[in-house]
Amino acid sequence: MSIVPERTGLHVRAAGKINVHLGVGLPGADGYHPLATVFQAVSLFEDVYAEAAADFSVTVVGPESDAVPTDDRNLALQAARLLAADAEYAGGVHLEIHKSVPVAGGMGGGSADAAAALVACDALWQTGFTSTHLQGLAAQLGADVPFALLGGTAIGTGRGDILNPALAHGRFEWVLALSGTGLSTPAVYRELDVHRFELGDDHERPASIEVPVGVLQALRAGDPHALAAMMHNDLQVAALRLRPDLQEVLDRGIEAGALRGMVSGSGPTIAFLCASAEAADRVRRTLEGFGIRALRAHGPVPGARVISS
Ligand code: C5P
Repeated sequence: MSIVPERTGLHVRAAGKINVHLGVGLPGADGYHPLATVFQAVSLFEDVYAEAAADFSVTVVGPESDAVPTDDRNLALQAARLLAADAEYAGGVHLEIHKSVPVAGGMGGGSADAAAALVACDALWQTGFTSTHLQGLAAQLGADVPFALLGGTAIGTGRGDILNPALAHGRFEWVLALSGTGLSTPAVYRELDVHRFELGDDHERPASIEVPVGVLQALRAGDPHALAAMMHNDLQVAALRLRPDLQEVLDRGIEAGALRGMVSGSGPTIAFLCASAEAADRVRRTLEGFGIRALRAHGPVPGARVISS
């Protein structure tokens, strides 16, 4: 019998995300691309345990934990430091991150860690900050961190950090096809710029950056067929240029009965939307049969929140 060590410390859970629509404009002077996106938080979770400490440190647990830096590049550690500085808190924290969201997969796992760290340290240090204030700190950490705090389903504009909650009824069933190696988010955005430059259509793009109303109607109706017809990701073409092998994964999922498959965020994870839980089970099993690691998830689920203190 294996003995599971008892976790100590304040426990916060945050979810990974899928962009059901991702429209990308031309980069601004700051290098960021303006977005019009619809996020949905899905049931792949990062669990963060926080304990008061004199200094700042982090350990990462999970099958892909080796791929996550535990030095100053760690986004959860940056979040804890940012909050401490902002709250003028003199102590530190030890964070233990249990990962379930694929690393460098385009599902916002690092952003979920940062959001969880903000919520955990805020509770631990009793800063009394409002959620609006925490959203402001989240935006300083990364474009996807504010959504990881908010959760649910939301429209993101600006860098993806200006959020408006969207209505979504029912529960959408997803299958996530994972990839052995990650893709770098900046590299995928750069590849999109190159692709558009080659096509010569880069001057026309910014005007088209808005969320189609049909996406919001499909979410409100809880209709996976309608949502499947509307799903779109401008970054997909760039992710496929860098990883042409992903096309086969897309094809396999559709053959297995998914309504639609799409690169999630900057990839390489592929998100398949399915008509029912049974259909999603079938798609997951079929992909696994082809040697493609696949996980089930549903959405929407809540943003970063305290599970126990
Ligand atoms: O904000 P975050 O650190 O997650 O972004 C990582 C990188 O992805 C940025 O430095 C930028 O190169 C690219 N990015 C972008 N436009 C966005 C979001 C990210 O160009 N809206």
